[in-house]
Amino acid sequence: MSYPNAPQEASPDVEEVRGRDVTFRFEARRCIHSRHCVLGQPGVFLANVGGPWIHPDAASAENLALVAQACPSGAITYERNDGAPGEPVPAVNVLRVRENGPLAFDADLRVIRPDGSVDAEHFRATLCRCGASKNKPWCDHSHADVGFAATGEPASKESQPLAARNGPLTVLPQKDGSLQVEGNLEVCSGTGRTIDRVEKTWLCRCGHSQNKPFCDGTHKKIGFKSD
Ligand code: SF4
Ligand code: FES
Repeated sequence: MSYPNAPQEASPDVEEVRGRDVTFRFEARRCIHSRHCVLGQPGVFLANVGGPWIHPDAASAENLALVAQACPSGAITYERNDGAPGEPVPAVNVLRVRENGPLAFDADLRVIRPDGSVDAEHFRATLCRCGASKNKPWCDHSHADVGFAATGEPASKESQPLAARNGPLTVLPQKDGSLQVEGNLEVCSGTGRTIDRVEKTWLCRCGHSQNKPFCDGTHKKIGFKSD
């Protein structure tokens, strides 16, 4: 069985470190500096060192898997070398709205480029919602540089339980517009409260909607450019 979130072919943008039981891959352009790795397993992920900073033999395979799965951006992925299963498919597709920060997905996610090709298949991803990332649709932490201010606790809407809570979730970034999302998704606040349950929606990524995290068309008025 293959796992979309497991390490795939090597790329110059990806650092791969093979350990005894686990191989890690680190994709710097996805990292949002949430520091779950260096705080969760400080003997495995060394902060502020010159030279090698990932040491996969410094913890058990189970703990390595857990710390990788805690990486919200998907910058860290892993593959088990000991025959154990890789990262499980999320049982529920969840989007968490981060206070003053990105849209954080735990989902069976595919991000599609405007030309229809697949940009990425991931179980974890943080997508820009401030409009300032230089690596759209991915968050690059620019929200902190531009002082983006947006609550992580939007009001809840009336919604019904979904017939299914998992399955493929597709994000289609619209040119100069929103993130179109198709698939079962529970939209939650940063503290886990349900905001909405949807099978299709449009999320603001220009940073200016009056109805965040949803698009309200303001991107047209402000001339948002996604490229
Ligand atoms: S986003 Fe992932 S790789 Fe980056 S600091 Fe956080 S846990 Fe580590
Ligand atoms: S993308 Fe922000 S209002 Fe549409």
